[in-house]
Amino acid sequence: MFAPSRVLLRSSLRAIPRTAAPRRVVSAAAARGFASGPPKTSMPVLPILAILAAGSTAFYYLVQARKDPLPAIEAHQPAQQQQIAPPPTKKPTFSPQQVSVIFVLGGPGAGKGTQCANLVRDYGFVHLSAGDLLREEQNRAGSEFGELIKTYIREGKIVPMEVTVALLENAMKSAIAAQGKYKFLIDGFPRKLDQAYKFESDVCPSTFTLFFDCPEEVMLKRLLKRGETSGRDDDNIESIKKRFRTFTETSYPVVEYFRAQGKVIDVDATNTPEGVYAHVKKQLKDKLKTMDKA
Ligand code: C5P
Ligand code: MG
Repeated sequence: MFAPSRVLLRSSLRAIPRTAAPRRVVSAAAARGFASGPPKTSMPVLPILAILAAGSTAFYYLVQARKDPLPAIEAHQPAQQQQIAPPPTKKPTFSPQQVSVIFVLGGPGAGKGTQCANLVRDYGFVHLSAGDLLREEQNRAGSEFGELIKTYIREGKIVPMEVTVALLENAMKSAIAAQGKYKFLIDGFPRKLDQAYKFESDVCPSTFTLFFDCPEEVMLKRLLKRGETSGRDDDNIESIKKRFRTFTETSYPVVEYFRAQGKVIDVDATNTPEGVYAHVKKQLKDKLKTMDKA
């Protein structure tokens, strides 16, 4: 941090003897009674004073800089870096002019899947649930990721993003090829900032995020009820607690990331499914009109 000041200081000090040399020559000429020409004593004084002044100023600033508390800036660097997306690794597969992507986020049991089904029925979206795609891959015979996915899901942890992003990209390609549909609801994704960066840089930038806001006690009741029939490995109290924690610590920062870009639409998800859907439609009214792709 101090290198530039040190260099400035050193070069200032080195400059003094070099430019001081002519003064000795001039002094000798003066001693000879100016026999070799007109007096030159006044010429070098100003440059020398200027150099001395520059050197002193550099030294003053160096001393001042050493008094500054360094860690204040450095302590904040890691947090800032976390918020900076890495440079894109490739051009996205789909452009947002061609394809609309709505991310659907909310805690476990917030009702994302239920509301996505309503939007599919009424507006012709393709619904892709990251959790469903992961479970499908987990159960696919011969999958090299089956065991890994199973462990992550049971522990309520986020599966490494490469797996989930690849599953989503493949599912989007299939839906476009088979159904000719270009509007996607991507449910339960991105659940971690790295997934958001990767998907938006490599697959498709999102149009906006629909966020279902629901208190934990309401979600807990819904999940325990669902667990009676869902057959899901993670609808039990131990896994639910871990999933809540992952949501707060890892997934909610994704909502904040998009909110800072003005790209989050909030829905109160505490109501009945019908009540929540009425709010969804109200919130999306203007957006839905402009989303139809050719
Ligand atoms: O969305 P859903 O509740 O079905 O997700 C179930 C589990 O799948 C999550 O708790 C998590 O372990 C995994 N998952 C993930 N990354 C996602 C979505 C789900 O790792 N984007
Ligand atoms: Mg779901």
